[in-house]
Amino acid sequence: MTRALRLGVNIDHVATLRNARGGGHPDPFTIAKACAAAGADGVTIHLREDRRHIRDADAEVICRWAAKPVNFEMAATEEMAAIATRLKPHGACIVPERRAEVTTEGGLNVVQQRAKLQPVIRRLQDAGIVVSLFIDPEPEQVRAAAEIGAQVVELHTGAYAHGKPGELERLRAAAALTAEAGLECHAGHGLTFANVQPVAALPQVVELNIGHFLIGEALLMGLPAAIAEMKRLMAEAAG
Ligand code: PXP
Repeated sequence: MTRALRLGVNIDHVATLRNARGGGHPDPFTIAKACAAAGADGVTIHLREDRRHIRDADAEVICRWAAKPVNFEMAATEEMAAIATRLKPHGACIVPERRAEVTTEGGLNVVQQRAKLQPVIRRLQDAGIVVSLFIDPEPEQVRAAAEIGAQVVELHTGAYAHGKPGELERLRAAAALTAEAGLECHAGHGLTFANVQPVAALPQVVELNIGHFLIGEALLMGLPAAIAEMKRLMAEAAG
């Protein structure tokens, strides 16, 4: 049987482009609907503390959209927990956030931050939100995520995407451990047509979240075609 593997499209960079001119075009919500029409299984948005791309009004309209699951990436702060529990996206993915970083550079240190993360996880879950933690593919981080009650982990594929030796093996081992720990396994960061298949082939992975490459490739081949090709590659690897 073919394993169902979902694609979440991260549309933060649509907002980056919109913000470059200060107007309303391109509109992230319009693109979210286009992603869904093209076969995306959900969309991901990251409301950053500095609002450098997605803004509150985007989050509001996209999270209230009922057509597809919305994955709300957020830092584990009081401000973001309050926004998430009000907007009630399908899922929240807690990520580390540093103001100066260009993108999310590493995974959460769940082992060290248990006490800070646990109440945020509980609060989000009490609002009916499925909680994911974005972690590096390290066994102790997977175990800690399960111990503090997360339902999902998203494995950071950035080092793999940069070609670091041994990273696929680390992802494979971490993904296997998620199943033992009772966690759902997602993966993402830096994935492209060229590198997605070995990750998509990991049997425990049920969702990939992909942004920068797809939005960039959309300039060349169009968004529907880029999403369709990514879905085709994922299904081929998962099958
Ligand atoms: N998953 C998480 C948790 C992320 O922070 C990001 C980047 O915003 C992605 C996936 C998507 O990464 P990329 O834009 O490199 O595809």
